[in-house]
Amino acid sequence: MLSIMRNIGAAATALITVITVSGPAGTVADPRRAEWRAGYRVPDAIPFPETNPYSQAKAELGRRLFVDPILSGARDRACLTCHQPGLGWADGRARAATLAGSNMDLRTPTILNVAWQDGPLGWDGKFRDLETVARTPIAAAGNMNLKLVDAVARLKADESYSAAFAAAFGDPAVSAERLDQALATFQRTIVAKRAPFDRWIAGDEAAIPETAKRGFDLFNGKAGCAQCHSGWSFTDNSFHDIGTAEGNDIGRGRLMPKSVALRYAFKTPTLRDVELRGPYMHDGALPDLAAVINLYDRGGIDRPSRAREIKVLHLAAEEKSDLLAFLATLTGEGESNALTAPLPVDAPKP
Ligand code: HEC
Ligand code: HEC
Repeated sequence: MLSIMRNIGAAATALITVITVSGPAGTVADPRRAEWRAGYRVPDAIPFPETNPYSQAKAELGRRLFVDPILSGARDRACLTCHQPGLGWADGRARAATLAGSNMDLRTPTILNVAWQDGPLGWDGKFRDLETVARTPIAAAGNMNLKLVDAVARLKADESYSAAFAAAFGDPAVSAERLDQALATFQRTIVAKRAPFDRWIAGDEAAIPETAKRGFDLFNGKAGCAQCHSGWSFTDNSFHDIGTAEGNDIGRGRLMPKSVALRYAFKTPTLRDVELRGPYMHDGALPDLAAVINLYDRGGIDRPSRAREIKVLHLAAEEKSDLLAFLATLTGEGESNALTAPLPVDAPKP
């Protein structure tokens, strides 16, 4: 019995050797695959800052504020107008719509997994942290167009909000800081749903097709994507020039004018649910994921600020489709989302 098993083992080894030597590139798992897979486990808990800890009542209040047009001057917009769960928590547009019906300079980014963004927010990092973001869209004349003092006054005048603020903060006082904190707490519960990729990482080999596994190897190996789209949320929360942006927007370079590397640098977006979120990039310039892969294959615009990780890749057609197949495994499954799911009593798990 033992010797038969040894023989089978030897035959299998021989077969693998044959494939390795003569098979087309990528038909065999990269030897580093197991090590790479270990870096993508879903974390155990959602991080909340000590300065704004989770509570169910605060998250409930934040959820209500997120969808309520009371926070816009003409009561015609809410955060939800642009950050929609069915569109990957963005709006499906190349660039966000101004109140006047024209385009802003930037595309609406997803707010999925924003709890893990421990660096600055916004495409160019203009926002220090999540608590400081909401004031900008509320007050911007071309966006929600409501002065912060007026937002606070409206909420004070609404008795049902007084009760909700009291439940969240212990007393019914309404302030801009509390508004920020409640909205941030809710947004941290907006977490990527489990995707086929996660079932594969957890050990289910049948969860994703072979082509996607080859794409995973490329993503982590030859194509170098994971150097920036790293970890379970597929972002290093940092800023890079990937050789896109042909216009005048120099991104983080505007805020950090002395740095050459930050010219044309934009935030690395999460790739969770990326399929649901086209068109792509900070300016929506790329219509689909095939165009994104082609950009990386060409190495983008060669200029002094371009990240050293970006180079011409010379991907074969099959490798491009493997990468696309891999990206498709990051789309979460199931209907429920942070807008509709019951909010947990204790700090929620992802
Ligand atoms: C008209 C569409 C629109 C509305 C309404 C809107 N946003 Fe946004 N949101 C955007 C755009 C565009 C950006 C990118 C801004 C930038 O990078 O400077 C953004 C960025 C963000 C970010 C940063 C995400 C990241 O990954 O860096 C957060 C958080 C956010 N919005 C939350 C909100 C909240 C909360 C509200 C409601 C108070 C809101 N948004 C209303 C379009 C919108
Ligand atoms: C040097 C860091 C870096 C590397 C390497 C990198 N990316 Fe990116 N990626 C970014 C940044 C930064 C952006 C946003 C750029 C912008 O908006 O102008 C981005 C955007 C994207 C987007 C668009 C997402 C969206 O919501 O708009 C996709 C898809 C993507 N990258 C996939 C890949 C793939 C696949 C690879 C490997 C072939 C890769 N990236 C390699 C940093 C990187």
